[in-house]
Amino acid sequence: MPGIALVGTQWGDEGKGKVTDLLAGTVDLVVRYQGGNNAGHTIVVEGERYALHLVPTGVLYPHCIPVIGPGVVVNPQVLLEEVDTLEGRGIDTSRLLLSGNAHLIMPYHLELDRVTERRLGKNRLGTTKRGIGPAYADKATRVGLRVQDLLDPKIFSAKLEVALKEKNLLLTRVYGRLPLEPKEIEEEYLSYGERLKPFIADTALAVQKALDSGRTVLFEGAQATMLDLDHGTYPFVTSSNPVAGGACAGAGIGPRDIDQIIGIAKAYCTRVGAGPFPSEADPTDAEVMVEVGAEYGTTTGRKRRCGWYDAVAGRFAARLNTLTELVITKLDVLSAFETVKVCVAYEFEGERYEEMPPHQTIFNKCRPVYEEVPGWKEDISDARALEDLPKETRSYIDLLEQVVGKPISWLSVGPARDQIVRLAAE
Ligand code: IMP
Repeated sequence: MPGIALVGTQWGDEGKGKVTDLLAGTVDLVVRYQGGNNAGHTIVVEGERYALHLVPTGVLYPHCIPVIGPGVVVNPQVLLEEVDTLEGRGIDTSRLLLSGNAHLIMPYHLELDRVTERRLGKNRLGTTKRGIGPAYADKATRVGLRVQDLLDPKIFSAKLEVALKEKNLLLTRVYGRLPLEPKEIEEEYLSYGERLKPFIADTALAVQKALDSGRTVLFEGAQATMLDLDHGTYPFVTSSNPVAGGACAGAGIGPRDIDQIIGIAKAYCTRVGAGPFPSEADPTDAEVMVEVGAEYGTTTGRKRRCGWYDAVAGRFAARLNTLTELVITKLDVLSAFETVKVCVAYEFEGERYEEMPPHQTIFNKCRPVYEEVPGWKEDISDARALEDLPKETRSYIDLLEQVVGKPISWLSVGPARDQIVRLAAE
């Protein structure tokens, strides 16, 4: 199984970091293919907590090559800070490969992300304000600057001048901000370029060579299916394609290079930022999920909105990603409830929707149809095999498999690496 894609099946924060961590022992390369430092993986290795935003988790394993692919947008300052922090904690980062084709997040992207959100007022998206959307917008309109431009001061300066002319007009005339100085940006970014030079490579070629020689490559999706630019709850989405298909374009491989597609889902559901969320729990239940599940964003520290497992979204993700299996995380959090609900369908104006509704208005206004099952009210964090779980927990897992239609291979019952139950489906 040389090509494995790992994707979020909800609205992000499903605990992909822990699953990557579990797989990393057996993979040779871990490749990020989209997003930027809007992502956040928290990984606990030997009691040490690492919060990574941009550097792929593979960096924590000496045998593993971490790769930042062409589909990622890179804030070089953040990348270097992460490299320095890791080095400071004794982690060797010299194996890191950074695609020269990846686009750069520039200071005006950060500024534009902030001011456009402010301007949208109550219609704001609730972005992470990391400049992600504006950077991808420039990439699409072909005025973006790429990592490789850092290696050619002349080209960098020419491209920056073109971009900044328009951005400064926008910032000053539309948003009433001060213009940005090209010289300052140039100096800052070219100095990042000097430091990033050893990492810059043709990553698509490196990945293909690895696949061709039978090495195992993990394509690590950031964000998740419901935040996908084309398939998610637009406009409340991120600006890239977290779905498994995004790995092809974003890493530079063909669809036949992916053999196994693992979807990650929390045993319940969370989302940060604005946008529809049919299975959002009532405030009392949501608060329990927030507190027991420590549902605060790794990147922005925002409290996450919490709800019950949404099987309509689960089926949607299973189909869009052609999942081969599902991993359920944070199952232990549901121990806090007398009964547990699963949203099995949506209802709108007397009609039942088993699949994602065809129009956003229906999705915005639909009511969740719940199946409510007995909870287990028991600490399951020490379970390591299916037999260790109460029968109510096992029934809940059977229900999830049935409503999503995919086998569940692992259950995570706590944050530590060993708090995992491996199921026969694996
Ligand atoms: P952006 O990606 O910063 O442009 O934000 C767009 C939407 O995606 C907002 O609703 C964010 O809260 C959400 N988002 C972006 N990254 C993540 C993530 O890693 N986890 C959860 N939500 C995210």
